[in-house]
Amino acid sequence: MSSNMITLALSKGRIFDETLPLLAAAGIEVLEDPEKSRKLILPTNQPNVRVVLVRATDVPTYVQYGGADLGVTGKDTLIEHGGQGLYQPLDLQIAKCRVSVAVRSDFDYERAVKQGSRLKVATKYTSIARDFFATKGVHVDMVKLYGSMELAPLTGLADAIVDLVSTGNTLKANHLVEVERIMDISSYLVVNQAALKLKQAPLRRIIDAFASAIPAEKN
Ligand code: PRP
Repeated sequence: MSSNMITLALSKGRIFDETLPLLAAAGIEVLEDPEKSRKLILPTNQPNVRVVLVRATDVPTYVQYGGADLGVTGKDTLIEHGGQGLYQPLDLQIAKCRVSVAVRSDFDYERAVKQGSRLKVATKYTSIARDFFATKGVHVDMVKLYGSMELAPLTGLADAIVDLVSTGNTLKANHLVEVERIMDISSYLVVNQAALKLKQAPLRRIIDAFASAIPAEKN
């Protein structure tokens, strides 16, 4: 690989789709559709810029260790990763959602929390959940899951889940209710700190173009 190659790590889906307009502002066009291709390295119209497709939770890791020079990752993923070695210049204001606590509609969350008994919480977001319940003074037994958190309260695996909520449709479809909003989420641009020094000009160009194209704040 030539050393002036710029590698951008993205995950398929909302983050990829909502990053495309920002890339366009930088004059970068991805030449293949990740939904149609099995390729993991996608060329762009700029010979020195390529996109690598990784799992959402792996984006910070790729950028931290230099497998990619920069990447786009949700604040949720960034918090769980810890952010070590990552320069975080921009909140891109894309892929917005929230992290919330949800329970079965017949579960008395207020009472469970007040009673001071231990709450069984299933989540992929153990750091966020641990911090949140520690601040509230609620003792939790944490069950780490990697997906389909909604199933946990329905099967008796947990009393509550901590998960991303966007429209709320997934909760509704599974007879769960949102009882607390923990934090608002959006996606961030993250940059490898060494790459920022070695490839300063091309990376700065991309960062500046992204900054100028961030969607206006809307509620
Ligand atoms: C997230 C989250 C919920 C769903 C919420 O999953 O885990 O399942 O979206 O969205 P809604 O409120 O609009 O229904 P995502 O699709 O990101 O995939 P994941 O299960 O891999 O996290």
